[in-house]
Amino acid sequence: MDKMMELRRYMTGSWGELMEAKAKEQHVHEVFERIAPKYDFMNDLLSFRRHKAWRAFAMKKMNVQPGQTALDLCCGTCDWTIAIAERNGDASVTGLDFSEQMLKVGRHKIERKGLQHKIELIQGNAMELPFADDTYDFVTIGFGLRNLPDYHKALQEMYRVVKPGGRVICLELSKPIWQPFKGMYYIYLKGILPLLGKLFAKSYRQYKWLPESLAMFPDHLELKAIFLEVGFTHVEAYPLTGGIAALHIGVK
Ligand SMILES: C[S@@+](CC[C@H](N)C(=O)[O-])C[C@H]1O[C@@H](n2cnc3c(N)ncnc32)[C@H](O)[C@@H]1O
Repeated sequence: MDKMMELRRYMTGSWGELMEAKAKEQHVHEVFERIAPKYDFMNDLLSFRRHKAWRAFAMKKMNVQPGQTALDLCCGTCDWTIAIAERNGDASVTGLDFSEQMLKVGRHKIERKGLQHKIELIQGNAMELPFADDTYDFVTIGFGLRNLPDYHKALQEMYRVVKPGGRVICLELSKPIWQPFKGMYYIYLKGILPLLGKLFAKSYRQYKWLPESLAMFPDHLELKAIFLEVGFTHVEAYPLTGGIAALHIGVK
């Protein structure tokens, strides 16, 4: 964030908010720098591989066509970035993430698939995108929005860089809807998941962050309302696997 903007925030009395946002960014950065080498393995384990079905559903809804460009925010180890690049013909895909370690894993996967000529990876902050207005056909964010300090502002940035008529797609963990399942799920999330993180990735504190970040995150209807507030039209929200995850799609 540039100095003028920081000064302006200070002058308008939101210095505390800025500090809170910076603290969250720094914490999230440390989490992903640490868990990067085990991230893909842990995703399979902790979601019982459900994340693969959620990603496939997202791709089906996107229906990517050759020639369509995409920006994948918080791309991490690049699963979604690669899936889009495999579908959009000669068009380019950009992945952006602020964790060098996550990008390193993603870069290896891209090279193994021989896709380095069409995927550009950028180390940067999803809150301040270094791209012009109206640039991409798709802007995607997979399991990233929950980790950002200001969901509203992040979606405004995505709205800015997607083309008119283009789509912003968010795949994210969410809050189960059905009460008996909800209770069991929270026992797993808060009690068991961090222990699995400790056992398999030696990262208890980092995996404890997952339920903490979800507690602060809007449910699928609240997130749909935020999409509408930002200005997206034709907003669709799909709860997945009983609401454990949700897919949101908005058109600019
Ligand atoms: C849970 S991972 C998701 C990775 C990938 N999108 C996927 O679907 O598996 C969240 C990613 O968001 C990135 N991230 C979090 N906050 C960020 C920010 N402010 N700017 C850029 N990347 C961020 C982290 O580094 C991490 O790679």
